[in-house]
Amino acid sequence: MLDFEFYNPTRIVFGKGTVAQLDRLVPADARVLVLFGGESARRTGTLDEVKSALGGRELREFGGIEPNPTYETLMRAVELIRSEKLDFLLAVGGGSVIDGTKFVAAAVRFDGDPWAILEGHGAGVTDALPFGSVLTLPATGSEMNSGAVITRKATHAKLAFMSPHVFPRFSILDPTKTYTLPPRQVANGVVDAFVHIIEQYLTYPVSAPVQDRFAEGLLQTLVEIGPKALAEAGNYEVRANLMWTATLALNGLIGAGVPQDWATHMIGHELTARHGIDHARTLAIVLPSLLRERREAKRAKLLQYAERVWHITQGTEDERIEAAIARTETFFNGMGIKTRLSDYGLDAAAIDGIVSQLEAHGMVALGEQEEITPQVSRRILEAAL
Ligand code: NZQ
Ligand code: ZN
Repeated sequence: MLDFEFYNPTRIVFGKGTVAQLDRLVPADARVLVLFGGESARRTGTLDEVKSALGGRELREFGGIEPNPTYETLMRAVELIRSEKLDFLLAVGGGSVIDGTKFVAAAVRFDGDPWAILEGHGAGVTDALPFGSVLTLPATGSEMNSGAVITRKATHAKLAFMSPHVFPRFSILDPTKTYTLPPRQVANGVVDAFVHIIEQYLTYPVSAPVQDRFAEGLLQTLVEIGPKALAEAGNYEVRANLMWTATLALNGLIGAGVPQDWATHMIGHELTARHGIDHARTLAIVLPSLLRERREAKRAKLLQYAERVWHITQGTEDERIEAAIARTETFFNGMGIKTRLSDYGLDAAAIDGIVSQLEAHGMVALGEQEEITPQVSRRILEAAL
């Protein structure tokens, strides 16, 4: 096993009706900014529920955080917090609202140009406002991690930052809040969580059987409940398991002490920034061809994945590996998510732009072996056409 440090201070409050517990979780004298996305929080009644749970606290609202939250929008929240002297943030939404809130929390306390937070991937963050979240979309794990991904509209840059200062103080996970999700977002959530697990599992063996088995258990759970989450919108047990699985997929636990890949995410971020494709869909495009491209470096783990997650035991090694990758694609397709660039209207002409953005963002040695150069990324994208 590799050396590691594991730290996760986020309190999880899980279950039906838990929004009411905000009164206990938010300091009584807090001056609160409630941040949310487009319309869903208001339309579903969650925003009203949040406001009523906050009781008599001084409260302002900031709506309009986009999917793939933008720097431009978030900086307006920073101004509002400064002018109104607010001191506690509450994110109500999915990964985009929580990520946006993390950036705002750090930017308010940051000296200098806040875009430097992204350029330095969080290294310059020394403080942040405290914040909590009410999660409405199980997918990213942002509710229990210290990462965020922010887009600068002006330059089509989508960059991530991480800092121990931006763990949520608490996150409320009420599975009934997911009932209103459109099927497209449920599917995105399942596939995003699936790929988060793969990024931390499908690398090379380091004698870490418990991390492997946690990861395999989470993957198998998603394979089992993913289609049910689509088919049975009001099934509490399915939504509860999906919510907790997506949180555990990226709260640091399964990634502690093992190599991590993340190349699929880095290439996927460029696809979203340039072409507006949903985050999870970019992962479904990149992952299968990345696994084929990297089959030698990942051989041992691919065979383990084939056997333990998909129960593939027949055939040569290469046949088993190919069968596992094909099953993965079939799983994504079964969730209604297409896996080729051409399915999203892109052809070979798009690839140059994506590769040059990877270079511009320093994404030139990706993956657990740091062997995915721009040329390799190009091959991966060409194979995904
Ligand atoms: O904007 P509103 O109207 O609220 O609608 C949202 C949005 O359009 C809607 N929605 C959310 N909850 C709903 C709902 N609609 C009905 N009922 C509900 N209960 O869903 C749409 C998508 O929301 P978004 O927050 O964008 O989705 P998701 O949670 O998938 O987040 C994606 C973002 O997270 C980043 C991605 O890059 C992307 O920007 N990621 C963050 C990570 C992290 N912090 O660790 C890791 C991930 O890999 C990912 O990169
Ligand atoms: Zn993701």
